[in-house]
Amino acid sequence: REVVSVLGIETSCDDTCAAVVTADGRILGEAQVSQANMLVHYGGVVPMLAQELHAQSIDQVVEEALANARMLQTDLSAIAVTIGPGISPCLRVGVTKARSIARVNRLPLIGVHHMEAHALVARLMEHKLHFPFIVLLISGGHNLLLVAQNVGQYVQLGTTVDDAIGEAFDKTARLLGLDLRKGGGPALEEIALQGNPTSFPFAVPMRNQKHCNFSYAGLKNQVRLAIESQKINENAPMSLASAEDRQMRADIAASFQRVAILHLEDRCRRAIDWARKIDPTVSCLVVSGGVASNNVVRTKLGAVTKEHGLQLICPPPRLCTDNGVMVAWAGIEHLRLGIFDPPPHLDEPADAW
Ligand code: KG4
Ligand code: ZN
Repeated sequence: REVVSVLGIETSCDDTCAAVVTADGRILGEAQVSQANMLVHYGGVVPMLAQELHAQSIDQVVEEALANARMLQTDLSAIAVTIGPGISPCLRVGVTKARSIARVNRLPLIGVHHMEAHALVARLMEHKLHFPFIVLLISGGHNLLLVAQNVGQYVQLGTTVDDAIGEAFDKTARLLGLDLRKGGGPALEEIALQGNPTSFPFAVPMRNQKHCNFSYAGLKNQVRLAIESQKINENAPMSLASAEDRQMRADIAASFQRVAILHLEDRCRRAIDWARKIDPTVSCLVVSGGVASNNVVRTKLGAVTKEHGLQLICPPPRLCTDNGVMVAWAGIEHLRLGIFDPPPHLDEPADAW
């Protein structure tokens, strides 16, 4: 084991992912199975069904990641796995698999926080990204603004008081009757390209509140009311809609997206001021999580950071959405600091966690 390498496993939501990453930041192999296609018929993630799909894919995904890396389990230095937050039965599939590999091969085990993995992956992309830095994490379940001071050390500046931005994108996409197979967020971003972003004057949430928290429930409601007043039938798919109806949907999508992102811009400006009071040396804003793959988010937050003399670091889209690489890399970051659990006891039953 001359090269230190970690296998990362991620099963917290609807993607079964695995990857092998080295301590010097090389991605040796990756594999992923997405359930989005299956779950779309159920209107979202159904925990027990998602668990079943993870269980069906996990062995194959891990084998594929190792095969792509041209490695055997015995070549690994440690196993990292997402232990939360996420859907418990889904997390259990990944944790059980990780424990069993670690037990059989006598490898250290690293339990990874899903949101920390989203944040730390920026340091894999940008080797010169040093602590402290500001982090905006935007996904289906979370909206977080943090100052990252070290691995495991974060000062929370703000979080959502109700829904996360990704959830608002998904809900709006559903109300607009978009094709959800590639995910609500990407579908909405695509149709918004054809819409007028100022056609619906939705209010920007919490404009005059001087904190870094987020709220998306009110915006979601404004969008719902707009859709109802336009009499768009969400059960009629876009493909069957009239040209006029399609334009209306694109306008609502673009207007929603503009305001949803304006809220991010407001909060980031405020967070930069706060973060500088905590530590004047912060020089980067990291934006990660599924919604960070949105091109308008990237452009707008790029402008905000520029205006404040900061650098924007946004991992490539495939590393912003859930993936195994971020978990493996978070494992490397912990391993380096000596933060890991010893291999599970040989007598441990295979399905323990
Ligand atoms: O981080 P992630 O893959 O999973 C969670 O941890 O939740 O984020 C998924 C969220 C979903 O709500 C999805 O619709 C959203 O990220 N998303 C996007 C885009 N791509 C993914 N939202 C807006 N624009 C996108 N291009
Ligand atoms: Zn995520």
